[in-house]
Amino acid sequence: MRVLLSLAAVLMLGAASVSAQSGPTVPPLNPVPDITSLISRLSLDRYKATIKGLTQFGDRRQGTERNRKAVDWIEAQLKSYGCPTERVKYAYNTPPPAPRPAGAPAAAAQQPPSGGVPRISGGGRPRGQRAATGVNNDPLKQPDEKLRALNAEPATDGHDRLATELGLLCRRELLQLRRSLPLDDVARPARDLATRALRPGRDDDAWLAVNNAAFHWHPDQAGWTRSDLDTRVAEAWFDPEGFLLHEEGGRLAGFCWTKVHADHDPPLGEIYVIAVHPDFQGRGLGRALAVAGLDHLAGRGLPVAMLYVEADNEPALAVYRSLGFAVHHRHRWYEGPTRPPQ
Ligand SMILES: CC(C)(COP(=O)(O)OP(=O)(O)OC[C@H]1O[C@@H](n2cnc3c(N)ncnc32)[C@H](O)[C@@H]1OP(=O)(O)O)[C@@H](O)C(=O)NCCC(=O)NCCS
Repeated sequence: MRVLLSLAAVLMLGAASVSAQSGPTVPPLNPVPDITSLISRLSLDRYKATIKGLTQFGDRRQGTERNRKAVDWIEAQLKSYGCPTERVKYAYNTPPPAPRPAGAPAAAAQQPPSGGVPRISGGGRPRGQRAATGVNNDPLKQPDEKLRALNAEPATDGHDRLATELGLLCRRELLQLRRSLPLDDVARPARDLATRALRPGRDDDAWLAVNNAAFHWHPDQAGWTRSDLDTRVAEAWFDPEGFLLHEEGGRLAGFCWTKVHADHDPPLGEIYVIAVHPDFQGRGLGRALAVAGLDHLAGRGLPVAMLYVEADNEPALAVYRSLGFAVHHRHRWYEGPTRPPQ
């Protein structure tokens, strides 16, 4: 929303810059040419392309690198449309929250005085069915995985310093690992692992059982249901041929689910989800499944493999290290008190 507002505001400012100067020292303007010029700039296709282009920056939050990049991009767009632009710099220091009187409830939980009319922020009266308002500060609540990845900005020392100053703790660290393809520089399993493609609908229950047993501890991957799987299967990128299953004794023992990011530069082949049922772990199956997945991606012509892994997932890291993966960048989630103790 901030994007739309700032874009709309700049567009209006750019367009109205002539008429906005109609003070006593500026000659009066003929409104008709101005309106004609404004209308001549309206192009639905260009507008739609601009709004779509903004999605490449994810959910923009003030102070983030992707927000700065988006502002640069907006400025370049406006210039390409022939609109003059100008930046106004301002420093905003967040005021400390007002101390709450002892025993008073938190603002969100404030109740009206008995018999009074409930009020929402800004003093208005709540009407109808109301959804939660305000900014979402939890990146994990973003259901769109692509946007979630965009929102998770790579962690820097600056983030760590700021977090330390604010008394925040690193709640989760996620590593993005990469390596080149094909996999011709590491020891391969003695025999290629027998795998087959997922049959959506028919393999769902067996797959969910393995996934949920292996990932019972995982923040994103635990407790998946059929609908979680169906949502991914319905995505344009989904390819059952890249969703490899390995069975032992008629039982699903593990899987390697790959995903192709063809629009990335360079194109990336991701090990999207990989797991071995706990009954089969520690026998080299995880490594062999990863090799099968990477071979599949190399066969599709992908030059680079990528995956995300929790920084403390030692068994997975052992597998990936042995396959020549290295850390490309890190994402960190911080958590802690954001207001001084009262
Ligand atoms: C990661 C996973 C797929 C590995 O499967 P696996 O069949 O057990 O893997 P392998 O037997 O091929 O190798 C496991 C490696 O981890 C090592 N390992 C196991 N437990 C470990 C631990 N607690 N600390 C350090 N290393 C450990 C093993 O020694 C082995 O390394 P080695 O071959 O150098 O000895 C499996 O543990 C799993 O399904 N985990 C839950 C899901 C998951 O985390 N998926 C990865 C998400 S990125």
